[in-house]
Amino acid sequence: MNSLAIFASGSGSNAEQIVRYFQSDSEVHIVLILSNKADAFVLERARGLSVPSHVFTRHDFYGSPAVLEKLREVGADTLILAGFLWLIPDNILRAYSGRILNIHPALLPDFGGKGMYGHHVHDAVIRDGRKKSGITIHLIDEEYDRGKILFQAECPVLPEDTPDSLAGRIHQLEHLHYPEQIKKFLQSL
Ligand code: GRF
Repeated sequence: MNSLAIFASGSGSNAEQIVRYFQSDSEVHIVLILSNKADAFVLERARGLSVPSHVFTRHDFYGSPAVLEKLREVGADTLILAGFLWLIPDNILRAYSGRILNIHPALLPDFGGKGMYGHHVHDAVIRDGRKKSGITIHLIDEEYDRGKILFQAECPVLPEDTPDSLAGRIHQLEHLHYPEQIKKFLQSL
């Protein structure tokens, strides 16, 4: 049995896919959805999906053990980042070493690092004239987008693409692969 906590800062379409995927899996339980933004749409999704949620402040996260305590209270053993924009602090990295997964909407190591999130990533890929982009599922360590890569999938970048149209294609790939790759990762532990 695995207990997952999902961190998301925005819309949460990936979080929702993950919750739905594991609804029929008796081995994996989504125990909590956490967000640093009180008005993030992911919190509405959590309510609709009947998954408990928790909003935390910068101080809770970086200046106190509050978030780690919350994760322990709900019994989370693995953390899933799905559109979560803050760097994970040391206390949580240590407690969940090797058990924090992230998804990045490009083919790392290109187009990663600080400031490379959301439309900035797709903007940069298009401006660079790349013919393909994709997704990367990786472990999280001390630096943005640098942990061990577990999985990548590619899609074309079309001549008429805008950051929005490319983001749509990337989201489809994410929804298709992230839940399945989380399952594979859990089975590999
Ligand atoms: C996804 O593209 C993910 O790769 C990136 O942020 C986006 C989140 O989308 N890290 P959503 O909130 O899951 O819809």
